Amino acid sequence: MALAFRTDEAASVVRADDADSDRFIASVQNLRTACGDGLERVDDQILDALQSPVDMIPAVAGHLIKSGGKRLRPLLTLAAAGLYGYDGRDHVRLAAAVELIHGATLLHDDVVDESALRRGASTANVIWGNKESVLVGDFIFSRSFELMVATRNLTVLGILSRAAGVIAEGEVLQLGTQKNVATTFDMYLAVVEAKTAALFAAAAHVGAAIAGAPAAEVEALRRYGLNLGVAFQLIDDALDYSGVESSIGKTVGDDFREGKMTAPVVFALENADDEARTFWRRTIGGSDQQPEDLAEATRLVHSSGAIERTRREAERYAATALGALELAPAGPMRDALSELAKQSIERGH
Ligand code: IPE
Ligand code: IPE
Ligand code: MG
Ligand code: MG
Repeated sequence: MALAFRTDEAASVVRADDADSDRFIASVQNLRTACGDGLERVDDQILDALQSPVDMIPAVAGHLIKSGGKRLRPLLTLAAAGLYGYDGRDHVRLAAAVELIHGATLLHDDVVDESALRRGASTANVIWGNKESVLVGDFIFSRSFELMVATRNLTVLGILSRAAGVIAEGEVLQLGTQKNVATTFDMYLAVVEAKTAALFAAAAHVGAAIAGAPAAEVEALRRYGLNLGVAFQLIDDALDYSGVESSIGKTVGDDFREGKMTAPVVFALENADDEARTFWRRTIGGSDQQPEDLAEATRLVHSSGAIERTRREAERYAATALGALELAPAGPMRDALSELAKQSIERGH
């Protein structure tokens, strides 16, 4: 058995240089504290799941896991179960399964997006290659399903397997909007709900479900996750134009270079004069980009108010997430989830 990546480093969950903003990271830490030793148990479960006699697998998978990551989604699972006093082991398995789905998705996503930086480190596709990233991603998916099966709970297995399919649908749907300057905000939202929010939703949903929460509250937790996920992706897409590489751990401007029709561009196009419209048609629609175009795109998304509008939309979704939480039992866990939703829109500020 290769144990190549089982090092102390693996325990570092929130990296100092992953500090999108101090207050947001503080809210993640706060949620982590509220979950006791839950996240350490999740990380142990993940490391166990990634063992394989095929050395390449723990090497590639371990690279991503060791690079950090905020562990937001598994925290949602632990916290949702914790709200209802769950004290078994299955929430840890499910939280690990959720983070594994996320990890597999990231490996695939960085191939699709041709990204070079993730969690402040070179991506697996750059270090090892696309083939390795895709195949190790598949392996991670399969390990995730083994963890779900270990719970012997068909309800949560159904929720998470559906989410895995919906994420793939979102990524494929996004391919259809890429370079398409006619993409509307609603089309963008459909992509975001599928590629990102579905996993946030499922993460909170399975936590509440495994803990035996009342049906209305299980649904409320699902809605909390869904709306938080949309808010999170909106901010992430704003940061692709306004963030700092060392802070987001990813290359700023990737979305522009890939011709992604994210909210900042959709909104900028809505307010564009003829010159700006010609610019977007050439650079996003026509993929005719010069090195200096990113600076102009960044100027335009700011001056048109598109970044501000993207942030306002995120605020609306975060507020809906907060509203959904009102149904959950009051206490420190709910407070920590509320604080996370409030701070999620302060990332990068
Ligand atoms: C990255 O998610 C993918 C998006 C939905 C934008 P995170 O920002 O949660 O990634 P890690 O796990 O912290 O690296
Ligand atoms: C995020 O996709 C959602 C998934 C990984 C499925 P993005 O492509 O927008 O996220 P980043 O910017 O690579 O993290
Ligand atoms: Mg990407
Ligand atoms: Mg992508």
